[in-house]
Amino acid sequence: VATALGGQSIVLVGMMGAGKSSVGRRLGQRLGLPFADADTEIEASANMTIPEIFATRGEAEFRSGEQRVIARLLKNGPQVLATGGGAFMNAETREAVSAGGISIWLKADFDTLMRRVKRRQDRPLLKTPDPAATLRGLIEAREPTYALADITVESRDVPHMSVVDDIIAVLA
Ligand code: S3P
Repeated sequence: VATALGGQSIVLVGMMGAGKSSVGRRLGQRLGLPFADADTEIEASANMTIPEIFATRGEAEFRSGEQRVIARLLKNGPQVLATGGGAFMNAETREAVSAGGISIWLKADFDTLMRRVKRRQDRPLLKTPDPAATLRGLIEAREPTYALADITVESRDVPHMSVVDDIIAVLA
């Protein structure tokens, strides 16, 4: 499969809680490709956590940093790259991704996403009076854009490894 990719990267997109980082790490291992996580890289380059970036710099600055970091990472050559949930909303990022790789939307339903985001309290966008309604709104607003990805893979409440198998099967 890795050879069939012809030197392209695999870029995972989709909502928070879709499993982009967990699936991406395992997919990289299976394909023998390095794995990079855009959120982790943003935190490293800002030397702050994502909630701290949102709190001190605001979302707009986070988004421009996110765009720069993803553009830089894509230059590293073939890899599996997990992006933050909002990254693919940026048209320039979508262009950079399509120039350097294959985008895969990890698609999950509301219940799955809600269950998963509840386990981690580090998503500033969900710090609202009604996180469930916020999540629903984000899903609705973003799905048409995620659907622009090259490939869609369902990521329901199944083990991440079976999502990895599904991706490999689609790429083969
Ligand atoms: C965001 C998703 C997060 C992180 C930030 C904003 C979003 O990444 O980039 O909190 O806009 O959906 P994950 O999708 O990895 O949670």
